[in-house]
Amino acid sequence: MLQNKIIIGNWKMKKDLNESLVAAEKFALKFQDFHDDDKEVVICPNFVSLFEVGKILKNSDLKLGAQDVFWENSGSYTGEISPTTLIQAGASYVIIGHSERRKHLLEDYNMIHQKVKAVLEVEGLIPILCIGEENEDRKSDRRDFILLNQIQQALNGLNIGEYKKIIIAYEPVWAIGSGTVLEADEVLYASKIIRKAIADIFGQKMVEENFRVIYGGSVNSQNVKELSSLENMEGLLVGGASLDAEEFFKICERI
Ligand code: PGA
Repeated sequence: MLQNKIIIGNWKMKKDLNESLVAAEKFALKFQDFHDDDKEVVICPNFVSLFEVGKILKNSDLKLGAQDVFWENSGSYTGEISPTTLIQAGASYVIIGHSERRKHLLEDYNMIHQKVKAVLEVEGLIPILCIGEENEDRKSDRRDFILLNQIQQALNGLNIGEYKKIIIAYEPVWAIGSGTVLEADEVLYASKIIRKAIADIFGQKMVEENFRVIYGGSVNSQNVKELSSLENMEGLLVGGASLDAEEFFKICERI
């Protein structure tokens, strides 16, 4: 099992360029003395802000992540951003398959699979694969199937080298931005299902050495303690509560 916990702030499209730069300065200041070998903190601004935010964060322990990526490294793909460009902009993480992209941009299983594959093919970029069930799936007891299917569709057939890392973010769609957090035992249950699904594809050793399973969905400084006390909890993906440096700092302290 990987030792340290990762806390990823996803700013989504909630800060424009100016706001992102102002926030980055605040975050860099707030986190300047945050040295914790057991924790890794990542900020994911929008594409246009990425490079400049990265420069501001350079002198802090905060790392940079992107919110999406394309599955080719170069070519006639108007509007898309390659894995290599993200690395050059300073990113070391990238979110893939967020439910908001699945919903609004119609990202399908194949696109998500290709994106994970493309990211694994370059050096220095770690994919954060988002999966999670809709509320109807949960109510009708289809959650296990949905999670298994999402894992298989995204990862089956991929060649994961010995040193490659992958983060799986379990984000129940109905918990995102809703203020409703899962009961801790439900998070634990889902993370077990996810680990089992990964082990079925890659073997138990890889689950422990190459993967981290984290939780996302309405995490804040009030509920973080309970979530982080769970067995096997390896980190958090935070949306709304990552927009404010003070609130996000508290989360990172308390996990
Ligand atoms: P939230 O978002 O923390 O605002 O629920 C999480 C996410 O979408 O990653």
